[in-house]
Amino acid sequence: MRMGVLTSGGDCPGLNAVIRSVVHRAVVDHGNEVIGFRDGWKGLLECDYRKLDLDAVGGILARGGTILGSSRVRPEHLRDGVERARRHVEELGLDAIIPIGGEGTLKAARLLSDNGLPIVGVPKTIDNDISATDVTFGFDTAVTVATEALDRLKTTAESHQRVLVVEVMGRHTGWIALHSGMAAGAHAIVVPERPFDIDELTSRVGERFAAGKRFAIVVAAEGAKPKAGTMDFDEGGRDMYGHERFAGIARQLSTELEERLGKEARPVILGHVQRGGTPTAYDRVLATRFGWHAVEAVHRGEFGRMTALRGISMVMVPLAEAVETLKTVPPERYAETGSVV
Ligand code: F6P
Repeated sequence: MRMGVLTSGGDCPGLNAVIRSVVHRAVVDHGNEVIGFRDGWKGLLECDYRKLDLDAVGGILARGGTILGSSRVRPEHLRDGVERARRHVEELGLDAIIPIGGEGTLKAARLLSDNGLPIVGVPKTIDNDISATDVTFGFDTAVTVATEALDRLKTTAESHQRVLVVEVMGRHTGWIALHSGMAAGAHAIVVPERPFDIDELTSRVGERFAAGKRFAIVVAAEGAKPKAGTMDFDEGGRDMYGHERFAGIARQLSTELEERLGKEARPVILGHVQRGGTPTAYDRVLATRFGWHAVEAVHRGEFGRMTALRGISMVMVPLAEAVETLKTVPPERYAETGSVV
């Protein structure tokens, strides 16, 4: 048996752990051949690949990023993308492709699968917003990095009696904001799922200072927005792939809060530091399990599906289920912190 693996979309701690696991299970345990396409779907579309053996994956378990490289190129971006992919799968004698990626990658995987290609997907995103799996690897690492940063920011905020508005990743969902905010004891959290009330946020922070506290930490998911018409707000735009580019919630909120409260405020954008570097032990384990189960699914001929974590069990779910809707933070989670505005 011969299978191809690729990593596509934004990188994420744990990608190398999946690649390693696929190679260990397929090559070592089953005696299969594995090739890795370079830079995501681009590698499949351009037939750019390398052989992956035990040596190729030596020492990569704890390494961030992806040894295969990644890009946001997808088959549907090309007029003949599906046909090219099919031709290369046939020419290379591949029995399966294992794409590791987020929502966009899995949509492309579904398209190829609907067109008859043998695909087993593996979900990844630090945002934790893929439906059909309880958790994605990368999320735990991102939350850990953001929490450490928030802990550090508290001491400098207190020294200067400042409001720090800390922007964490999360285009459409507030999982990282909610979990890092909870873990660090943030005083207010704003998430994309619930447009915030700027008056309520101002009073929440103001009451803290009125009670004699010397600082406040506001955690904002990058996709958070104010309720329509309540605050002048620049929504940002889109890049060449149609990917949202936010104008900067932290900068805008910090200016607004400084004006409204008469307290010094600063924006802090954590950005890609949340995605870089070594995965946590939890993410390494989850990624390794995903890789192992993806290979097993290939051997069972279970195509058009994706590995998923449900509770503590690994299951295979239809790709269609994974890409139908985003997994947003359920409203009942807000009450548990008391900080979501
Ligand atoms: O989806 C993962 C993610 O890190 C989002 O949280 C973020 O909005 C986006 O990717 C950033 O993408 P890029 O690396 O292309 O700027």
